[in-house]
Amino acid sequence: MRIDILTLFPETVSRALSHSIVGRAIRASVVDIRVHDLRQWTTDRHRTADDVPFGGGAGMVLKAEPLIQAISDICGGSATEQVERILLCPQGDVLTQATVAHLSAHSRVLLVCGHYEGIDERVRALMIDRQVSIGDFVVSGGELPALILADAIVRLLPGALGSPESTVDESHTEGLLEYPHFTRPAIVNGHAVPPVLRSGDHKAVDEWRRMQSISRTRERRPDLYARWWVAAQVRRSMRTRPMTKRNKRGSGRTPPDLSGGKIVV
Ligand SMILES: C[S@@+](CC[C@H](N)C(=O)[O-])C[C@H]1O[C@@H](n2cnc3c(N)ncnc32)[C@H](O)[C@@H]1O
Repeated sequence: MRIDILTLFPETVSRALSHSIVGRAIRASVVDIRVHDLRQWTTDRHRTADDVPFGGGAGMVLKAEPLIQAISDICGGSATEQVERILLCPQGDVLTQATVAHLSAHSRVLLVCGHYEGIDERVRALMIDRQVSIGDFVVSGGELPALILADAIVRLLPGALGSPESTVDESHTEGLLEYPHFTRPAIVNGHAVPPVLRSGDHKAVDEWRRMQSISRTRERRPDLYARWWVAAQVRRSMRTRPMTKRNKRGSGRTPPDLSGGKIVV
C-alpha cells in the first residue's frame, strides 16, 4: 500500500514516521509512505502557501492553487490506481476502526493536512473524496491527525505487526474493548494477577477474557456495548431462523445485566 501525506511541515511528519511499528513497516516495504512539502507547489519567491480570509477575521487560510496542483500531481501520475483523497478536518466523519479497516484495503490514499484556519473551501469541493476527524476537538494542524490515521492503517497491513493476531482481539475490532493485560511479576504492591491467567487452562483463559471484554465495554462505553449487543442478537437470530424485517432490527429485548453469571452470544 502507498500513503502520501501533503503538509506544510514535512520534517515533523517524516521524523514521527521513522519510529516503532510504522518505521519498521516502511523499512520492511510493507508500506510506502511519501511526505510532500506543500511549498513545492507555490509559485512566488517567498513560497507563500497561505493568505488572509475573504470577509476578514482572524487567522490565515491555505491557498487553493498550490493544494489543487499538488493533489493532482500526486494522484495524477497513476492511471490504474484509484487514490482516495482524504482531508484531515474537525468537521469530517469521526474516525472509527471500521473506517481504518476500509481504508487499509485501498492500494493508495492521500492525506491532506490543513493548518491555521484550514483550507480554501473550493479545494474541499473539487479535490477531496472523504473528510476525517480524529474527534470532536480542534488541534493546530492536520499533521498529528494524519499520523494517527496512517499509524492505524499500517497496523492492519499484512506483515506490519510481529503477530497478526494482535489486531484480532484489539479494542474496537469487533465492537468491544479489549480485556486487561498483566505481565510479571505475579504480585505488585499486594495486587495479584487473576489466578485463571496462571492456570494453564487456555479455554478458561479465553472465556475469562471474553467476559472481561464484554463487561468492561458495558461499564466504560455503554454506547458501544448497546450496539454490539444488538448486532450479537441479530447474528444469533440469523443462526436460528430465517431473516425477517423484525429480527433484522434486533430482538426488541434490552441488553442484559452483566453483574453476575455468564453471557452466551
Ligand atoms: C486549527 S484547525 C482549523 C479548524 C477550523 N477553523 C474549524 O473551526 O473547523 C487547522 C487544521 O487542523 C486539522 N485539524 C484540527 N482538528 C482536527 C481534528 N479533530 N481532526 C482532524 N483534523 C483536525 C485540520 O487539518 C485543520 O484544517
